[in-house]
Amino acid sequence: MTEVSHTPRVFSGIQPTGNLHLGNYLGALKRFVDSQEEGISSIFCMVDLHAITVWQEPQDLRHATRELAAGFIASGIDPTKSILFNQSQVPEHTQMAWVFNCVARMGWMKRMTQFKDKAGKNAENASLGLFGYPALMAADILVYHATHVPVGEDQKQHLELTQEIARKFNHDYETEFFPITKPVIEGAATRVMSLRDGSKKMSKSDPSDMSRINLTDDADTIARKIRKAKTDPEPLPDSVEGLENRPEARNLVNIYAALADSTAEAVIADHAGQQFGTFKPSLADLAVAKLAPISEEMARLMQDKAEIDGILKNGADRARAIAAPILKKTYQIVGMVGA
Ligand code: TRP
Repeated sequence: MTEVSHTPRVFSGIQPTGNLHLGNYLGALKRFVDSQEEGISSIFCMVDLHAITVWQEPQDLRHATRELAAGFIASGIDPTKSILFNQSQVPEHTQMAWVFNCVARMGWMKRMTQFKDKAGKNAENASLGLFGYPALMAADILVYHATHVPVGEDQKQHLELTQEIARKFNHDYETEFFPITKPVIEGAATRVMSLRDGSKKMSKSDPSDMSRINLTDDADTIARKIRKAKTDPEPLPDSVEGLENRPEARNLVNIYAALADSTAEAVIADHAGQQFGTFKPSLADLAVAKLAPISEEMARLMQDKAEIDGILKNGADRARAIAAPILKKTYQIVGMVGA
C-alpha cells in the first residue's frame, strides 16, 4: 500500500504518577530535548487520563502533573518551542479514542502484555480504562498525525497496535488519512538500571530510594547515592567487552556516558583500570553538575503553581488547534452529521 507522506511531528507522553528519576531523564526527557533542538515540531503530553486507569489520589495526581511539567521544563523543554500540556485539557484525545475503540478488535487488546502485567491475577477487577489504555494511546498519537514517537522498549507493542489501528481505519474507510507512526525505541545505552541491582530497571516503585536518583534529589543526595551504588570489587576493564556479566559496573559506565553525551567506549578509554573508589567520585561530580540544576529549577517552578498551570493551558490551546481539525476530518470520514 502506498502511504501518503506526512510532515515529521514528534509526540510522546509520560504518566504523571510521581517520582521522576534518572531513568526518565536519560531515557525520555533528555531525548525529547534533543528532538526539540533538532527543530522538529514536538508535542509532549502529561497523560493524566492514562494515569487514572489505576487508582490515583486526586491531590497526588494534581501534584504529580505539575511536578512532571516542572521536570520537562527544568530538563530543557521550552514551552514556547514545543507544545507541553496535560491530556485531559484536550478533549479531542478521548473523542478520538472512542472512534479507535470501535476500530481496535478485542483480540488485539487481549494480547497486550502490559494489560496482563498490570491487571495481574485479578483481571476481572481491572478497570475498563486499563483494558482500553492502548486505544487512548493510539488516539494521543494519531490525533496529531504524529510520525515519530520516542518511547521505551516496553511501549513497543502499544506502538505496533497504534499502527494496526491506523492501518485498519485507513483500510476500512478507504483513505490514507492516518500516518503509520514510527516507534523510536530507546537504546540500551540510555536504559538506566537500579543502583542496587544492575539487572533491574531503575523504577519509581522500587521500595529502596537508594536504588534511584530522583530528579528532585539535591546535590548531596545525588552524590551519596552514587557513592553507595552497588559495584563489584574489580577495577574498570580496558574495553566495553569487559563489562559483560558486570551489570552494576556497566550501568555506572552507561550513566556516565549518557550524562556526558559520550559513549561507553569513550568513558572506558578514559577510566580504564580505575577502581570504583576513583570512578564513583568522578561520576558523582558529573551527575551533580548535570542534575542538581534540574532539581533546583524544578523546586523554583513548583513555588509558582499559577505559572505552571498557565503554561499547560497555553500548551493545551495550541495542541487543540492541531487536534480539532484532525478529529473533525475523522468524524467526516466516519460519517458523523454536523462534523
Ligand atoms: N504508555 C506510555 C507509558 O507508560 C505513556 C503514553 C501514553 C504515551 N500515551 C502516549 C507514550 C503516547 C507515547 C505516546 O510510557
